[in-house]
Amino acid sequence: MRKPVVVITGAGGEIGHGLIEQLAADGSRPIITLDVAPLEASLATHVAREFTGSILDRSLLERIHSEFEVDLVFHLAALLSTRSEFSPVMAHEVNVEGTLNLLEFAQHEAESHGRPVTFLYPSSIAAYGLPSLEAKAQAGRVKEHEWTHPTTMYGCNKLYCEQLGEYYARHYKQLSAEPMSGRVDFRAVRFPGLISAVTVPSGGTSDYAPEMIHAAARGEAYACFVRPDAQIPFMAMPDGVDALLKLAATPSESLTQTTYNLGAFAPTADEVRREVVQAFPSAQLSFEVDTKRQGIVDSWPADVDDTAARRDWGFAPKYDFEHAFRDYLIPTIRNRYQG
Ligand code: SER
Repeated sequence: MRKPVVVITGAGGEIGHGLIEQLAADGSRPIITLDVAPLEASLATHVAREFTGSILDRSLLERIHSEFEVDLVFHLAALLSTRSEFSPVMAHEVNVEGTLNLLEFAQHEAESHGRPVTFLYPSSIAAYGLPSLEAKAQAGRVKEHEWTHPTTMYGCNKLYCEQLGEYYARHYKQLSAEPMSGRVDFRAVRFPGLISAVTVPSGGTSDYAPEMIHAAARGEAYACFVRPDAQIPFMAMPDGVDALLKLAATPSESLTQTTYNLGAFAPTADEVRREVVQAFPSAQLSFEVDTKRQGIVDSWPADVDDTAARRDWGFAPKYDFEHAFRDYLIPTIRNRYQG
């Protein structure tokens, strides 16, 4: 029998970095990656097979299907929210059609092997859309079913793909003679803004926080594109990776929903600035508000209610705001640029 493998799409991205390291350390499954760009050498060493190509290339997915027995998928490939607003049609293709391709891929894998495929999908706070700052202030920590009226292409894509995943898990081909659903064991998390010490994001709207930190560490001036009082939830990348792995390992009987909010801390942009200045006293950080990107941040919740994730599968982030900076971000970033 062939050994089951894990497939990671968008493997060279921000989440992929930490995820590949953790999965390699765990060693339970060979890692197969798919990304439009070749992996960095340090990541490629952990990987059993690297495919360079697009999730829109169905023949490539067919090739992976014919070569491997896949029982776990982390579908990370996506265009982020700011980039998606510049190319909405392409965003829809990659974020929605690409996800549909991966769900079909997982369905076929499960049908071939007679076992469900666990499918992890990073959704986002972008799935929410609050109509005004007043509504945002009043909403506080939003629950999964509240305010799901995204204003961005990326947010629409994420919200729809959550539903598409649930369709595969619960209702796929519901009129066929044989039961077909339940083969894709779809599990989604709505990530807050993720902050990594190892990589700098590109194309996101929550990027102002990581950009402030990385610019200060590099000794470069940075103008934050949102107001000092702008507030959304964030999380340190190691907690994001742990959450994906923990959710993947949870028995399906424990899960009461397919999509879970995740939160850790929810600082204002000015609180982030102050923490960075404390670590890098010579940092040159200012505010130059881009009203359009600000509008997107204003439509996202100030914080999320992640009670369901804590209750169902024991989600418990290690890093609060202070620890994320003092014990993870600042020391790791300092090392990276000055080490
Ligand atoms: N961090 C993402 C973005 O800004 C949201 O999921 O696009």
